[in-house]
Amino acid sequence: MIIAIDGPSGAGKSTLAKNIAKKLGIVYVDTGALYRTIGLYVYNKGISKDESEKIVAALNEINIKLDFVCGAQKVLLNGVDVGDSIRTQNIAAYASAVSAIIEVRAFLLDTQRNIAKENSIVMDGRDIGTVIFPNADVKIFLTANDVSRAERRFAELAEKGTVTTFEKVLEEMRERDHNDSTRKTAPAIPADDSILLDNSGMTLEETEQAALEIIKSKLGNI
Ligand code: DC
Repeated sequence: MIIAIDGPSGAGKSTLAKNIAKKLGIVYVDTGALYRTIGLYVYNKGISKDESEKIVAALNEINIKLDFVCGAQKVLLNGVDVGDSIRTQNIAAYASAVSAIIEVRAFLLDTQRNIAKENSIVMDGRDIGTVIFPNADVKIFLTANDVSRAERRFAELAEKGTVTTFEKVLEEMRERDHNDSTRKTAPAIPADDSILLDNSGMTLEETEQAALEIIKSKLGNI
């Protein structure tokens, strides 16, 4: 079984996907972490976001493996767990830049597809329903207006102790939305057969309930 959850950043895809995976007893896969890991590697090498040729050349030095420990996903970059080092705003911006490069997307294709060969999964990302698994059993496009999404992201960052302003978070989110949805390769747009779930003003529980209803309507009682 493959459940694809796509949508813009800050819509709550990862929380939703994680909770659904737990409820259904299947594996949660966070594909943004893969792009973030490549972003981290090129940032650490001193490559700038717009140096596509250098980013593509760096792929030869990168080995990425996903590991799942008690339901939690770990990304191993050349054998080392990247942990939370991929969760900064700077690395998010790098991830958005590297994700627009066709070679980077091709590089990560098999890593994503192979997981579904052995597991039932809930996978979150931007192109899961359009490119990675066009035949996914359920496709949800989770979105919310940008102010709601920026408010959530701002609260998350504040909780982690990151010093920033709401305006900055909103501006970065709009920039990332623009990059991700207008890029030529695998833009973050809903698949034709996806079901749109707009959770602006909805709580986590309401979002989860709505998603479970969608899953039930596609797969019956599971
Ligand atoms: O979901 P996230 O914020 O961790 O994703 C980081 C970046 O990676 C995001 O700006 C878009 C990109 N991404 C992508 O292009 N395709 C995916 N399947 C997942 C993420």
